[in-house]
Amino acid sequence: MKIAVCGKGGVGKTTISSFLIRALEKKGRRILAIDADPSPHLARLLGFPDADQITPIAEMKDLLQERSEKNGPFYRLNPRVDDLPEKFMKERGLVKLMVLGAIQEGGAGCACADNAVLRNLLNILLLSPDEDVVVDMEAGVEHLGRGTVASVDHLLAVVQPYRGSIETAVKIRKLASDLDIHHLNFVANNVEGEEDLRFIEKGLGIKMLGWFPGSADIKKAEREGVPVAEHCPEVFDAALELLNRLERNGNE
Ligand SMILES: Nc1ncnc2c1ncn2[C@@H]1O[C@H](COP(=O)(O)OP(=O)(O)OP(=O)(O)O)[C@@H](O)[C@H]1O
Ligand SMILES: [Mg+2]
Repeated sequence: MKIAVCGKGGVGKTTISSFLIRALEKKGRRILAIDADPSPHLARLLGFPDADQITPIAEMKDLLQERSEKNGPFYRLNPRVDDLPEKFMKERGLVKLMVLGAIQEGGAGCACADNAVLRNLLNILLLSPDEDVVVDMEAGVEHLGRGTVASVDHLLAVVQPYRGSIETAVKIRKLASDLDIHHLNFVANNVEGEEDLRFIEKGLGIKMLGWFPGSADIKKAEREGVPVAEHCPEVFDAALELLNRLERNGNE
C-alpha cells in the first residue's frame, strides 16, 4: 500500500505519518518512509539515531549538480538515480527512510535541474515493489501536481477543527477533482470531541476516514524528543484503525 500524507502547515502530517509507519511495522510490513518536507522531522519522530545529522537530498547541491549535469540552461531530463537509495537510505527495524526534502512539482518557471533528480528519485522509490510506502509531503497545495499523488494508492489529507485548515482541505479536494484523482481521503487530527468532528465534516461536506484525538501524550513525547508513536498507545489504536479502513475500502 502506498500512502501520501498532505495538508496545511502544522496540521499533523508528520505526526500522523509516523503513526501510520509504526502501525504498518506492527503488522509486520516492510515500509519505505519518504520525507518530502523542506524541514524534515520524520526521522526524529520515528526515533532514528542521529536524526538531526541527516542531510536531505534536496540540500546535496554537489550531488544534484553532478546528476543533473546542469550546464547553463541545459540539464538531463532523466538523470541517473538508481544507486541513490542504497547510498542514502537509513534503516531501523522494518523501516527504511529516505529524506528527500522539498521537491517542486513542475510548473512554469520551476528551477528544474535539481528537481529532475529529486522527482526521478521519488518516482523510483514509489515504484518499490517490496515495501509499503508512506510519503510525508510538504505543506500546502501548490506542489500537489499529478506525479506523486497519482502514483500512490491513497492520498490522505489531514485536517484540524479550524477554519484555515478546512479552507486548505477544500482546496485540496478541488485540486484532486480537477486532476481526476479519486483516491483522496480526509483524516481529522487534534479532535477534542464530537463537536470538533462535526465542525470539520460540516465544513468539508464529507465524512472523515479516520480521526486522531488531541493528545497530551503526543505533546509530551514531542517536547521530550522521543518517538511519538511509541509513547502514545491510545493514539496508536487510531492509526491501526485508519490502516484497516484504508485496506478495506480507502478509495470509496
Ligand atoms: N493529535 C495531536 N495532539 C497533540 N499534538 C499534536 C497532535 N498532532 C500533532 N501535534 C503537534 O502539532 C505540531 C505539528 O505537528 P506536525 O509536525 O506533525 O505537523 P505537520 O503538518 O507535519 O507540520 P509541517 O507543515 O510544519 O510539516 C507538533 O508539535 C505535534 O507534536
Ligand atoms: Mg511535517
